[in-house]
Amino acid sequence: MQEQLSDRINRLETSATLAMAAKARELKAEGKNIIGLSLGEPDFNTPDFIKDAAIQAINDNYNSYTPVDGYADLKEAVIHKFKRDNRLTYDKSQIVVSTGAKQSLANVAMVCINPGDEVILPCPYWVSYKDIIKIAEGVPVEVPTTIDTDFKMTPQQLEAAITPKTKMLWYSSPCNPSGMLYSKEELRALADVLKKHPQIIVV
Ligand SMILES: Cc1ncc(COP(=O)(O)O)c(C=O)c1O
Repeated sequence: MQEQLSDRINRLETSATLAMAAKARELKAEGKNIIGLSLGEPDFNTPDFIKDAAIQAINDNYNSYTPVDGYADLKEAVIHKFKRDNRLTYDKSQIVVSTGAKQSLANVAMVCINPGDEVILPCPYWVSYKDIIKIAEGVPVEVPTTIDTDFKMTPQQLEAAITPKTKMLWYSSPCNPSGMLYSKEELRALADVLKKHPQIIVV
């Protein structure tokens, strides 16, 4: 079977999250008391007002192809949310509705990465970053961090990881899995390094 699959797919590793979730289910089925810390699944059901809105949308015939970047009224609602909760101002041209961050990241990888392009990944990073980059034929460049820097990449480490092939930097703050958060000053220091390399796209 494996030889029928593309090299692209065979290069991917099994998702650590899914493997861990399967193991947890297996142990639970054996009657063991297991607390699953793999999938980021809430421990509550979808609230009724969301379920009701989904049922209402079906009854209102929201059932054909959507505009690729999302319905205009949904984009307005997203803009409203960012303004109200995060004090961020966007216009509709800056909003794309997708089925999740994973899909958006895959889209970004496919449109930005050429074979052999390097993508800097401060470790630890969210489990799928590396495989999404590999499927786009990019080269993940891991930057190890330690507890001494609160698992954050320093400007010196960033500078040292940059080569003429560096195309992107991918990171998240707060970080999944460490939970660390870069301060404004720390982000500014990283941005000062990136300013010297304007070809690098930050995700
Ligand atoms: C840092 C980070 N990026 C991306 C994702 C994927 O998000 P989604 O479930 O919206 O595809 C997750 C999910 O846990 C995440 O923690």
